[in-house]
Amino acid sequence: MRSKIVAGNWKMNKNVTESKALAEELVSELSGVSLENTRVIVSPTFVNLTTVLAASEGSAVEVAAQNMHQEAKGAYTGEISASMLKSIGIKTVILGHSERREYFGEDEALLAKKVNAAMQTELEVIYCFGEVLEERKNNTHFDVVKAQISGALFHLNTAAWSNIILAYEPVWAIGTGETASADQAQEMHAFIRGLVADQYGAEVADNVSILYGGSCKPSNAEEIFSKPDVDGGLIGGASLVAADFAAVIKAI
Ligand code: PGA
Repeated sequence: MRSKIVAGNWKMNKNVTESKALAEELVSELSGVSLENTRVIVSPTFVNLTTVLAASEGSAVEVAAQNMHQEAKGAYTGEISASMLKSIGIKTVILGHSERREYFGEDEALLAKKVNAAMQTELEVIYCFGEVLEERKNNTHFDVVKAQISGALFHLNTAAWSNIILAYEPVWAIGTGETASADQAQEMHAFIRGLVADQYGAEVADNVSILYGGSCKPSNAEEIFSKPDVDGGLIGGASLVAADFAAVIKAI
């Protein structure tokens, strides 16, 4: 059975003191909460990964990185490799976030390399994708999502899919306060699961967790998460306040 997952993407927010405090508050908010088949992940910036790992040790809260470089090592000033993340105890990395695509020029060809590097290092990947408003208006959103998924992931073998989590994040809903309706999310998630089924068969498709992201918050999480193909969320703004993030987790 696929896991339910609520992941918080802290983006470039929170210094070391604030990161530690947020992780501790979250651990305390979740103490006594039954998290059956539900994983909770937080993703602080690189420099605070170790601090947040320590602050969440022994709890159900897992820690992921927000990005990594595709090469194993070498002259890539300012970059961080998969094995460096692994060596500090990180097991999961977010790749392909729309902000990485928009501001740092990441495309499927590059993301395929990053995914390969993660797989070789046995890191789990939360692979993000989603259409911009224009594409939704033009009714090309299904084609765009198909290209984003197939271009970066469909070269993988079946076994690799046990380390892939998909995150559908319509760009027009990220940080805008505008959310896809639960029906829009379900429609796209069912389409995505169908794509995976066509490529890899029903078992892989049934087992892959597909998260929704984009202005998901306590007031709308329950409705979105109630849809059969929505297996959780990737949460930005609402993950920066422990009580709000805990409320989203409880909604699942
Ligand atoms: P948001 O961000 O919840 O603030 O819209 C989601 C994301 O970018 O992952």
